[in-house]
Order: sequence, then C-alpha cells, then structure tokens
Amino acid sequence: MEENKKYYITTPIYYPSGDFHVGTCYCTLMADTLARYKRLRGYDVFFMTGTDEHGQKIEEKAKAKGITPKEYVDEFVARAKDLWKVLDISYDKYIRTTDEEHVAAVQKIFKKLYDQGDIYKGEYKGLYCTPCESFWTETQLVDGKCPDCGREVKEVKEESYFFKLSKYQDRLLKYYEEHPEFLEPEKRKNEMIKNFFDKGLEDLCVTRTTIDWGITVPFDPKHTVYVWLDALTNYINGLGYTTSNDAMMKKFWPADVHLVGKEIFRFHAIIWPAILMALDLPLPKKIFGHGWLLVNGKKISKSFGNYKDPRVYINATSVDALRYYLMKEVTFGEDGNFSEELFVERINSDLSNDLGNLVSRVTTMVEKYNGGVIVKKEELPLEDIDKDLIDTAKAMIPNVEEYMDNLKTNEAMAEIWKLISKANKYIDLSAPWVLAKEGNTDRLNQVLYNLVECIRIAAVPLQMCFVDTPKKIFAQIGVGDKETTWDSAKEFGTLKDGTKVSRGEILFPRLEMSDELFKVEDEEAPKVEGKPQITIDELDKVELKVGQIKSVEKIPKAKKLYKLEVDVGEKELRTIVSGMVPYYKEEELLGKQIVVVTNLKPAKLCGIESNGMLLAAGDEDVVKLLVLDNNEGVLENGTNIH
Ligand code: MSP
Repeated sequence: MEENKKYYITTPIYYPSGDFHVGTCYCTLMADTLARYKRLRGYDVFFMTGTDEHGQKIEEKAKAKGITPKEYVDEFVARAKDLWKVLDISYDKYIRTTDEEHVAAVQKIFKKLYDQGDIYKGEYKGLYCTPCESFWTETQLVDGKCPDCGREVKEVKEESYFFKLSKYQDRLLKYYEEHPEFLEPEKRKNEMIKNFFDKGLEDLCVTRTTIDWGITVPFDPKHTVYVWLDALTNYINGLGYTTSNDAMMKKFWPADVHLVGKEIFRFHAIIWPAILMALDLPLPKKIFGHGWLLVNGKKISKSFGNYKDPRVYINATSVDALRYYLMKEVTFGEDGNFSEELFVERINSDLSNDLGNLVSRVTTMVEKYNGGVIVKKEELPLEDIDKDLIDTAKAMIPNVEEYMDNLKTNEAMAEIWKLISKANKYIDLSAPWVLAKEGNTDRLNQVLYNLVECIRIAAVPLQMCFVDTPKKIFAQIGVGDKETTWDSAKEFGTLKDGTKVSRGEILFPRLEMSDELFKVEDEEAPKVEGKPQITIDELDKVELKVGQIKSVEKIPKAKKLYKLEVDVGEKELRTIVSGMVPYYKEEELLGKQIVVVTNLKPAKLCGIESNGMLLAAGDEDVVKLLVLDNNEGVLENGTNIH
C-alpha cells in the first residue's frame, strides 16, 4: 500500500432518538459507498460512524421508560448496529460518546483548552422557562412567552464555561478563503458565512450545570460538557487523540472528509475548525453538507407520519435495491425525494430493465449460441458500433473516478448506466440472433465477447454501491479475482478466451406496486427491541389493572413529567410519575381509565416516588396512552387485565 493512499471518512454521530429511517441511512450509505470506492482503488480506509449519546433529551427519554440513560443508549446502539449489519455498512469503527476513551479524551481536551485560556468561566444569560426547564433566545419567543407552553419566561444567569470562538473568526475566514475546497457545496458555505460571520461570532457556551447525563468537567464537576465539544471531538478521539497510542491519529488525521447533513453543516464549518485551531491540529480536508431525503417535500420524521423502517424496503426488494436508490436519487448537495412509487419505478427501470435484462439476455445468448463459452478472436476488424461501445467502456472508469473523487455519487452511478444502456442498444444493433441464424460464427463470437466484457467492466465499479449483485454477476460470467479489480476495468479485452458463462437467477425481479408490497407483516416486522422471547409464566409476573386518573399535576423543574394520582381499586390512590406532558394536557388526562402496571418496583423521579406505570404506545413525537373503551364505564377501577 502506498504511503499517501489513506482515506479517513466519517458520518455524523447520530442521536439515539427514535429509530433510523431511510433519511438517516442516506449519509451512512454515502460514506460506505465512498469507503468501498477508495478500498477498491487500493486505499487504506478508515471509516467511522457512531452515536452521540449525552444530553437532557436522552436523560428524559430514559426516565420516561423507567431505565437508566446508559441502558437506554445501549438498547439504541444494539438496534443501530443491527441495521448497519443488514445494510452491510463496512465501518471500521463505531464510536460512542459514552466510550471510556472518548470521555477521558474530552476531559483532557477541556482541561488543555482551559489551561491555555481558550475556555473561560463566565455567565450564560438567557430567557428561561422554569416549568419547561428551557432556555430561549429573544427571537424564539412567541408573543414574548415560552414557545412550548406559552408561559412567562424570565431572564436568568447560569454559571457556564465558554469557548473563545470569537477569537478564531479572522483565522477561520482566512482559512476558507485560502482553501476553497474545504467547505462544500459552495452555496452552503456562502450562506453560512453570510448568516454567522456578518454578525460576528460569539463565544460558545460549552458546559451546563443543569444536565447530569454528560461528561463532567474534571476540575469543576458540577458542570457537564455541553453538546458540540463532546460530539465534534469524536472525530479525533476515535483515533486515540490524547492517548499514548496515537498511531492511528498520526496515520489518519486530518480526515479526508466529514459527511454531514445540511442542518449541522455550520457547526462543523465553524466550531470544529476553531476547536482544532485551538488544539493546534490540522483541519479536515473537506466538510461536505449533503441535502435531506424528503417525503412529500418534507424531511423524513416520525412527526410527519412519513417514517418507515428501511428494512421494509429491503424485505420487499433487496439491500442492493435500497442502496442503489439512495445513491441515485439524491443529487450532490441537494435534497432528494423518497416515495414508494419512485422507488418501484427506479428499481424496475434501472435495475430490472437495464442491468438485470442485460445480464440475463447476454448470458442466455452465450449459452444458447455458444454452449456457454466465450471465444476471443482478435482478427476481425471492428465495426463502428463496436468502436462506440468500446470507447464508452474505456471512458467510464476515468469519469467515475472524477465524480467519486468529487463526492458526486449519483453522477458516478449514471456514468455506469451509460455503458449498461449502450450495451443494451448494442444487442439490438448487432442482432446476435440473426448472426446465429446466418451461421456468422466469427462475428457472433465477437459480439458476444464485447457484451460480456462490457458486463464485466460495468460490474467492477458497481462494487462501490452494491454488496451482492456484483458477486452474482461475476459468477454468471465466470470471471476470477484478477478480472474484477478496479484497474482491470480500465482495459477492454481482459476477459479470457474460453471463459465459461452460466445463466443465473434473475438479479432484480420486477416489482408490482400494490398495497401489499411494503406492508409490514407481523412476523417480519423489525424486532426493534430485540428482546428475547418469554414464557406465559414470565408474562404472568406483570400485574396489569384498570386505573383511573383522579388528579394531574405538573412537576415544577421537570419538563415532561406529571404527578398523577390514580385509582387502581385500592384504599389509597397511587402516585405515578409519567412523562406525558408533551402529549396530553392536564384536562385530557383527568378521569381517563387507563392500563396500569401495578407491581412495578417503586422508583424516585424528580424526588417523587412513583408506584406503577401507565402503558402507552409510540415514541418521541407521538405517544398515546392505552385507554379503556369505557363509554359506558362498565369496568371498575382495579379490574385485572389479562
Ligand atoms: N448528533 C448530531 C451530530 C453530531 S456530529 C459531531 C446530530 N444527530 S442526528 O441524529 O440528529 O442527525 C444525524 C444526521 O442525520 C444529520 O447529518 C442529519 O442531517 C441526518 N439526517 C436526519 N434526517 C435526514 C433525512 N431525512 N435525510 C438525510 N439526512 C438526514 O445531528
């Protein structure tokens, strides 16, 4: 491996909130495609992804589920890794911000920046909504009140540490100017400079005293490190920065590219380089802000009801079909669209018709006309249609390289499809069935050779994006390892005389759009929780009863929690703390008959002992309580539920 052939690529580290959808898969797939491309070209690749696991939101979600934040993030990470396995994501390292090495490194970085004066202690001033426990800026307020609950906010001051971001303003601007390739796409860079630098950069608050679930400041433990200093430094901490084992850091830093979504581009473009400047480290070579995958013009999210587990599409088609769709549909830096109709159309036209048919038609003809054997004879002169086909094949790899080196994955795929289309047309123009009928064996052999050679050449770069299909194609056209390397696809004529072709299964069966196609079957439904099966006796350990909510009270200082008094048919009412504030108003809960787990061990939440749990469905954006259909009020409180 040549010394300079190294490639370090990262995705953002994802928040463990909700599950991944096709939108969140996009960036990881793009990174995976680039990583595979570089590996095919002989680079030593380090591809890192991971999770950003600290913060108040996680703390609250865990509380609402009655588990610790660590348990909550562990569950999420298991599901995330599971999905990446299904999608065949070839990451080399999965970093978690709860990893011991990362925590220790953030603390060392914090101390170093403090010691050298880049972090200082100050006061965070903000408009605070006490019941919601949230800080707001003037512009976020609605009619001068909290945008969440509509109550009065007050100006408060909180002791915080600040990173001297303002000090780096001029150096950053100078760097952008001197390194035009650093931030891409260009229009996002310009937008960012206009929006943030014109006003002047403000120092950045990097700690909080109100969030427990975070990395503590080593010399002032009532503070935890706040968001970006923790999250962004993953890119170097994952290489062992600050540890005695800095071989990876020496080898792979600076990163070649950080791929990030457009809404977090500015943090990567401003805060991250400033932190690196303060640490006296070189900056990454490129930060690329990609667009979003949209459904009906909106970013995919559970709250828009347009969320679907990527596994649904994989189950209906294949991993390669979904991978291809995502790489093809999103244009460089722009938003892309996802719809089930578009998905079906794309798979049918590009994969079934163009690629699938080419392979199947050609392998069938070689079997039918030549007993499955390729004959290579060079004495026949080339016709114009041959020259045209060979020129397209030879131009493809250099063009694909150019696009991939510029992160234009969709154009690279289109370039491969140019050859596939040309080869399909070549079949019609050369009409091998006529040659066979006429007994023109030499020309027939030449035509079949050219076609199989084109399939081989096209399948080589397909290995960047597809994980199963190229192997299947290579097996059908009988080529060995040497004929599947990147460089072998630059030559036309590598395919050997006597190669044995054997027709295989259909690569991409045509899809018929129907209501059933993307239906989530119960047995196939993704096992998101991945919990082991339990016996009926184990289930029987859970005591469920009908309860009725008799009083509802918000807990001051807790953003999401209500204190409920619930009648479960006992002498006294039960106190249950429940995270329903974002989903139900007090009056909506009062009097409701609901399902209560009555034998759950008591737990203290915000200093209040909670004795039981209400059953609810949903996650994050939409949560609904399981309510008794009790218009007639037939069931008494305390009735057992089986
Ligand atoms: N934790 C931060 C990143 C810290 S990186 C040091 C974060 N996490 S996130 O989970 O909210 O988002 C992670 C990435 O997913 C972002 O780059 C975001 O743009 C991307 N996407 C989320 N929904 C998306 C689409 N619908 N389409 C494409 N990407 C989308 O931000």
